[in-house]
Order: sequence, then structure tokens, then C-alpha cells
Amino acid sequence: MAQVVSVKNTGLRGVTVADTKISFIDGEKGVLIYRGYRIEDLAEHSTFMEVAHLLLNGNLPEQKESEAFEKQVREAREIPEYLRESLRKWPKDAKPMDVLQASVPLLAMADPDLLGDGREANARMAVRLIARLPAVVAAWHRIRNRLEPLPPDRDLSHAANFLYQLHGKKPDEETARYLDICLILHADHTFNASTFACREVVSTRAHMYAGVAAGIGALSGSLHGGANAEVMKMLLELESEKDIPGWVKGRLEKGERIMGMGHAVYKTMDPRAKYLKQMAKGLAEKAGEKWHDLSSQVEKAGLEEFRRRGKTEIQPNVDFYSAPVYHMMGIPRDLMTPIFAISRVSGWCSHVIEEKFAEAQEKPALYRPQAEYVGNYCGLLGCEYEPMDRRQKRQ
Ligand code: ACO
Repeated sequence: MAQVVSVKNTGLRGVTVADTKISFIDGEKGVLIYRGYRIEDLAEHSTFMEVAHLLLNGNLPEQKESEAFEKQVREAREIPEYLRESLRKWPKDAKPMDVLQASVPLLAMADPDLLGDGREANARMAVRLIARLPAVVAAWHRIRNRLEPLPPDRDLSHAANFLYQLHGKKPDEETARYLDICLILHADHTFNASTFACREVVSTRAHMYAGVAAGIGALSGSLHGGANAEVMKMLLELESEKDIPGWVKGRLEKGERIMGMGHAVYKTMDPRAKYLKQMAKGLAEKAGEKWHDLSSQVEKAGLEEFRRRGKTEIQPNVDFYSAPVYHMMGIPRDLMTPIFAISRVSGWCSHVIEEKFAEAQEKPALYRPQAEYVGNYCGLLGCEYEPMDRRQKRQ
């Protein structure tokens, strides 16, 4: 019998629940590695397609492999007509993350590999998910704005095609490359909340789509991927604020959080935030925009205030600078978290495959922790059952 260990109310911080070969974080030094490679190097030299291949298959693809993988993704971008028809009927004010999550089982129904339980079938499902989630986000954005969804353009790269399907206009090369780098930076992050949700679901032998739908649900929360939209909300509120240090102090005094700062694992600046900060600077300088300066002022005030409170480890995370970057690319605030999802799906699918096919551990087990019961209890014989007419509301 397993030894009973209590890690109650810790959010499982510091608890190792599996082995993984996919990514590694050094939270003290601010290092993130995918399959051995530093994300800075991947962001500098790779494409999101190569990184998705790396995460899924364990190697940076050579030329032919890379072309074949990208071709598979380009050819899988079309979403089923019945899904477009459904999207047209959904309330136009539905939250894009809800729409994305609800679309995943509809995509599953069109996948010929859904019931295949081999690694190859799962790899093909991963390609379809990576190809189609961006198409769902773009189609939804157009439908809610009473525009027709656009067919994908096979000549465009992954990021460029997404921007094209979203805005109806081919992006310039630089913007497409910036988005591609953002997708690389968000692609995986060890056992974060959404990845754990995904792995937990498929540990029951549920299919990949069930896991990815769970991942999207977990990512939507404002303490996780939803933080980027909250950061943008904060920046828009602060546009005309004269006293940013005063605003930050006031917020912390009220017990509220500065979104985009702090991390469960990093005790220094998130390496992705460092990279995105540079990108925000470049974009702002080019367009004469204020968003980099404003974000830096909030960062500076936040760091000072956290230092005063002895919490020097609370520093910008990935969501802090991705928000102004996306804003300057013309991405609406409520699509910022869906864009996170269209990148992270590559990590989720890689983890699903690792979990299902025991690629990093001998024998993965069904996740089944326990909770301590602290509710109503009258002993093992149970409380005396009260018929309706004798029931009284208890405090
Ligand atoms: N603003 C204010 N206080 C903070 C912040 C913050 N951004 N982050 C942490 N704290 C404080 C908490 O209030 C808590 O204080 P207490 O000990 O006085 O109660 C203490 O620091 C520890 O916070 P926890 O949430 O318990 O622990 P953790 O370090 O694991 O928090 C988390 C990580 C949830 C991300 C947190 O930093 C946070 O809420 N940040 C803002 C939301 C955010 O940006 N989320 C995105 C994270 S990145 C990602 O998921 C993609």
C-alpha cells in the first residue's frame, strides 16, 4: 500500500509526479530548455514548426523531415464545415477560450485516428490539433464580427496564415516572424497547470482531444494563461495614470495581484519575459507606441514594491510582456490567451504522447490523489436519513 503523504494546500509545489523528457526549468537561474535546447536559441534560430516537431518527436528536424512535417500541418488546416456551422450559431459575445474549448470535441469527431491507440495515430492527431486550433480562433473572430471565415493559404507559414485567416490580410514578414517567436516561447513549460490537467485526463486512457480540451480550460484562468489579457486590461487602465508607483502600491495594499508578475517556479525573471520585453521595445520604437515604456514603468514600480515587502522573487512572467507585444500586433485582448493555446497545444500533445506511451517513465499510473474529508460525519453507519418533511436547514 502506498505511503500516505500530505501535501494539502500546497498546490503540489515541489512534488514530483512523473518523469519527462520534454522540457526543463531552472527556476533560480531563469532557464527554460525544450528537449535540451535553450529557448533563447530556439527563438533566435528556429521556427515554431521546427519546435513543434522537436517537442513531439524529440529531435530538431533535418531539412526533409522539416519540410514533410510542415507540409502535413499546412494540409491539415481546414476545419470541418459542421464546426463552422456550429460557430455561426453560438452567441457572438461568447468568450474565445470557451469557444476554443468547446470546439475541440467537435474537431475530435472529424478525426479518423480518434480511436487509434498507437503512437503514430496520436502523432497524426497532434498535427491536426496544431493545424486546426489557429483556424478555429480565426474563424470565430471573423464570425463574431459578422465576417465569413477565410480558407487557409497553403503558401503561408503557420504564423502568417493565422494572421491572414484572422485579419483577412497577409501580414508583413516581420510581424509573422514576431508571432512565430511568440509561439516558440509559449510552446511548453513542464508540468504547469494546463499540462498537468491534460496529462491527468489522458492518464485515464481518454483520447488526446479530451486532454487538450482540459488543458484549454485550465489555461483560461487568470492565474495561468488568462493573465496576459488581464495585463492588457491593467495597461489600458493605466494609459492616463500619472502616479504608477502609487497605483501599484494601492493595489497591493488592497491585497490584489499585479497580473503578469510572479511565478510558481521562477524565482527570478522568466526567460521568456526577458525575450518578450526586447520584442516589445523593438515594436514600440518602430511604431512610436507607448506600451513598452508603460509596461516597464509598471514592472519597475512592482519590483520596488515587492522588494520593500521582502518578495524579490516576484518578477515579470511570460504574460507581462506578451500582452503589449500582441496589442502592438493588432491582436484583440480576448484573443491573447487563445494565441497562448495555439502554441501550447504543441506541448500538450507532446505530453499526451509521453504519458500514453510511457516515453519517460516505466509505467505511468492513473493520477488519483486523495483529499482529507472534513465534511459532515456521523460515523461509518452514516447520519440518520431525514425525510423531506423533517429536514431543517443547518448552518
Ligand atoms: N501580485 C501580488 N502578490 C503576489 C503576486 C502578484 N503578481 N504573485 C504572488 N504574490 C504573493 C501572494 O499574494 C502570496 O502572498 P502571501 O504569502 O502574503 O499570501 C505570495 O506572493 C505567494 O503567492 P502564491 O500564489 O501562493 O504562490 P506562487 O508563487 O506559486 O504564485 C502565481 C504564482 C499564481 C503565478 C502568482 O505569482 C500570481 O498570481 N501572479 C499573477 C497572475 C499571473 O501573472 N499568472 C501567470 C503566471 S505564468 C503562467 O501561468 C503562464
